[in-house]
Amino acid sequence: MAATGLITTEQLENFKNIVGSDFVLADEENLHKYGRDETEELLFLPEVVLKPGSTGEIAAILKICNREKIPVTPRGAGTGLSGGALPHLGGVLLSTERLNKIRHIDERNLQVITEPGVITEVLQDAVKAKGLFYPPDPSSRGSCFIGGNIAENSGGPKAVKYGVVKDYVLNLELVLPNGEIIWTGANVLKNSTGYNLTQLVVGSEGTLGIVTQIVLKLIPLPKYDLLMLVPFASLEKASEAVSAIFRAGFVPSALELMEIDALMLVSKMVDSTAVPVNDSIEAHLIIEVDGNNLDVLMSEMEAIAELLTRFDAGDVFFADDAQQKAELWKLRRRVAEAAKSSGYTIEEDAVVPRAELPALVRGVKDLGKQHGFEAVCYGHAGDGNLHIRINHPTIKNSHGNAEMNKVLMDLFRLVSQLGGTISGEHGVGLIQKPYLDTVFRQQNLELMRGIKRTFDPNNILNAGKIFDLT
Ligand code: LAC
Ligand code: ZN
Repeated sequence: MAATGLITTEQLENFKNIVGSDFVLADEENLHKYGRDETEELLFLPEVVLKPGSTGEIAAILKICNREKIPVTPRGAGTGLSGGALPHLGGVLLSTERLNKIRHIDERNLQVITEPGVITEVLQDAVKAKGLFYPPDPSSRGSCFIGGNIAENSGGPKAVKYGVVKDYVLNLELVLPNGEIIWTGANVLKNSTGYNLTQLVVGSEGTLGIVTQIVLKLIPLPKYDLLMLVPFASLEKASEAVSAIFRAGFVPSALELMEIDALMLVSKMVDSTAVPVNDSIEAHLIIEVDGNNLDVLMSEMEAIAELLTRFDAGDVFFADDAQQKAELWKLRRRVAEAAKSSGYTIEEDAVVPRAELPALVRGVKDLGKQHGFEAVCYGHAGDGNLHIRINHPTIKNSHGNAEMNKVLMDLFRLVSQLGGTISGEHGVGLIQKPYLDTVFRQQNLELMRGIKRTFDPNNILNAGKIFDLT
């Protein structure tokens, strides 16, 4: 549990004067609500929750906290999976939920200016209505905020063709920990003017500043997409097929893997029989292609299906209409939730070079046998990025648990040996920081600490996330 008593009555009054008393919360229910995110079963109570309504209010709050050295944890929608928004030091929990306006869709330049508290799907739908496309689509897109996506450099299924959040962020308004306000770059598609502060902030997990306005690049919306589900008798063969698809010259707009247990858990949770499962299937690939020429897409799908027969694929299921597509995507997007509620509470986000996927899944299964846990793999196979959900008979939180620490050390050593890294899209946050030295040298970490000290010399903003300063 976090330290309390960091905030005086006078400071609390100051916060009320800045944001208004209605937006200063300190009751048990709210402290518990804002003390959790989607990470495992962790809870850390903040001392107070502040809900500012503007950049100026955020700047005024940070000025006080910087002067008085009060810890501040910024928070979007609280859908994070690495504990980035958990107020583990107590102090101020600063929610961006009231900064929820899409400011301007610039159809001339194919850009959008938005505030951070806009739900990702709301933004996607708003630009879609104008024939435009913002591709990054984390599974939580119906509830996560675009600001949180920037903090974590989120991905999602479309990343395999369209890239991740960083590929769309052009410019950011940022409140620095001392309360100063800057824009990090310019609203341009190319920029070689000095260090790229915009990209430094993307993925910095709220440790360098609080993003209050975001300029995103948009692209034209593709007219068509086709979706198929392909069963495999072997998880390893399904994993091998992934890199073969790219080597054969195809770039799907989604290439996801779902191990059979993942599909069974989610089908049960949502009471769906959309995908028949039987004992002879170990995994499925979900493959989507998109573009503007339907005939081309049809022949691409046929060619991919033909290629997959070499990997002992079973009968392909084509999603015929929008409803079937939506059902398949619903099953895929809700795996994390289904797995968590079935006891698979610990989620890892390993990423390896794509062709090393078979070695990764083999290694995960071996570790499960060795350490006595069940693991289910699913996720963005086309990017070499697998989510590994762990169901340990007794350990439900990895944070600070010595036994789970050994398991995860072994997992991340394997990932590192395969040329990969700890997190593809969920971030380091609180729970992955003990493992950073499996993939970084001390020099890398010292450079990062130096950057943090430059932005936040008093270490007030999301301190103790990604790494500890001392
Ligand atoms: C997903 C989230 C957990 O891919 O990243 O479902
Ligand atoms: Zn994911």
